[in-house]
Amino acid sequence: MMEWPEESRQVMDTVTNTMASVWRFLATNPSARQFFLERMDDQEALMPAVEELLRITSVANNPRRIAKDCEFRGVKFRKNDRLLLVATLANRDPKVFPNPQEIDLDREVNNHVTFGVGPHRCIGSILAKREIMVSLQEWMKRIPDFWLADPQPPSTLYGGTVMGFKSLVVEWSKD
Ligand code: HEM
Repeated sequence: MMEWPEESRQVMDTVTNTMASVWRFLATNPSARQFFLERMDDQEALMPAVEELLRITSVANNPRRIAKDCEFRGVKFRKNDRLLLVATLANRDPKVFPNPQEIDLDREVNNHVTFGVGPHRCIGSILAKREIMVSLQEWMKRIPDFWLADPQPPSTLYGGTVMGFKSLVVEWSKD
C-alpha cells in the first residue's frame, strides 16, 4: 500500500501524485503496461509516453490574483479577484490536441501546460520527468503485471492547488 504523511502531500506532492495517477492508469491497462515493457530501454520512445501521461494527469493548478480591473472574453474581473487556472482543462483543448480524451502513448506533438507557462514555468520539470521515467523502468522490470486492489480505501481523492490520491493500493502476484 502506497501511503504518505499529510505534510509531504502539501509540500513536494506533485511528483508523487503524478506517479499515483500513472500507476493507477497502468494497473488498469494491460496494453499500456505492455507498451512500456516493450520499450523499457528506449528512452526516445518512453519520453513521449511519459509526456502523454503528464498531459492527462496534470496534478498542479495555477492560482493567480487579478492585478487590475479588466474584462476577458466577456468575463469581468476586479482587482484582487483570485483565479485557479485548471491545467487539465487546457490539456484537453480539442483545438490543440486531436482526440484530447484519448491517451495516445505515441502522441507526437504534445504542448501540454502541466508544468505551467511563462516566467514561473516549473524549474523542476526535467527532473520530474526523469524521476517518473526511472521509477517506471525500475518498477516494470521487477513488477511487470499489477492491478488495483478491490476495494480501494474510501475518499482517497483530494483537490485544490495540487490534486491527487491520499493512497493507492495495488497488488501483484508473488510468483
Ligand atoms: C510532475 C511534477 C511537477 C509538476 C506537475 C509541477 C508543476 C508546476 C507548475 C504548474 C508550476 C507553475 C506554478 C505557477 O505558475 O503558479 C511549477 C513551478 C515550480 N516548480 Fe514544479 N512541478 C513538478 C515538479 C517539480 C520538481 C521536481 C521541482 C523541484 C525539484 C519543482 C520546482 C518548482 C519550482 C521551484 C517552481 C516555481 C518556479 C517559479 O516560480 O519561477 N517542480 N511547477
